[in-house]
Amino acid sequence: KQDGELSGKTFLITAGPTREKIDPVRFLTNHSTGKMGYALAGEAVKMGARVVLVSGPVNLEPPSGAELIKVESAEEMYQAALGHFGEADVLIGTAAVADYRPKYIYEEKMKKKEGDQALELERTKDILFELGQKKKGQVIVGFAAETNDVENHAKGKLARKNADMIVANNVKQEGAGFGADTNIVTIYKKDGTIIELPLMSKSDVARNILTEVVQWLKKDESL
Ligand code: PMT
Repeated sequence: KQDGELSGKTFLITAGPTREKIDPVRFLTNHSTGKMGYALAGEAVKMGARVVLVSGPVNLEPPSGAELIKVESAEEMYQAALGHFGEADVLIGTAAVADYRPKYIYEEKMKKKEGDQALELERTKDILFELGQKKKGQVIVGFAAETNDVENHAKGKLARKNADMIVANNVKQEGAGFGADTNIVTIYKKDGTIIELPLMSKSDVARNILTEVVQWLKKDESL
């Protein structure tokens, strides 16, 4: 067991995109590369935590020491996260989970036909929301990927998802969001504190978030 500020703590971290099948050759997804989530997992391991990393399909080496669970769809990510939530002290949702999936998965490749094609979609489960309902003392950190009105959307997610912190990024900003090695985030905490961080590497963002989590855990334990 490693010695560190987070030793004895178990982190459940979701990362990367999900893939929602349309047919055997097509799927719906998004631009997440997993970099933000893997950075968090790596830094948490360095700080001594046990890390369960539930990851959608990405091209990254998992941080050594983290327990990797590979998933594809939002439903698989939900099941994997649910299965480990009970043993977690902290849940961090960095994954860009699909909000909708095709209502029907075609068994065979969809064939081209004349004219337009509509795709009927249904809602997936909101993992953070669902686990937020089952919360028993866990610290819950969500992300908010926004393109406008960041503060309002982030505060809405903080309340709705029963989270203790929301890490918001404006994914339209240069150097922030999907794919980059850097991010620009603002942390909104349940106690009303707002921490605005400048552009920095995703590892540094991760360390800043984990420092906040350490303080939050200490505060909870001293109650
Ligand atoms: O992976 P990278 O390329 O490094 O990019 C990083 C990132 C942009 C993906 C990351 O910084 C980020 O913003 N992650 C959250 C992406 C997202 O889906 O945000 P959202 O605002 O749609 O969701 C809000 C929160 O609810 C998130 O914590 C999300 O994980 C969670 N959620 C959303 C939908 C759903 N069905 N289940 C969820 O748990």
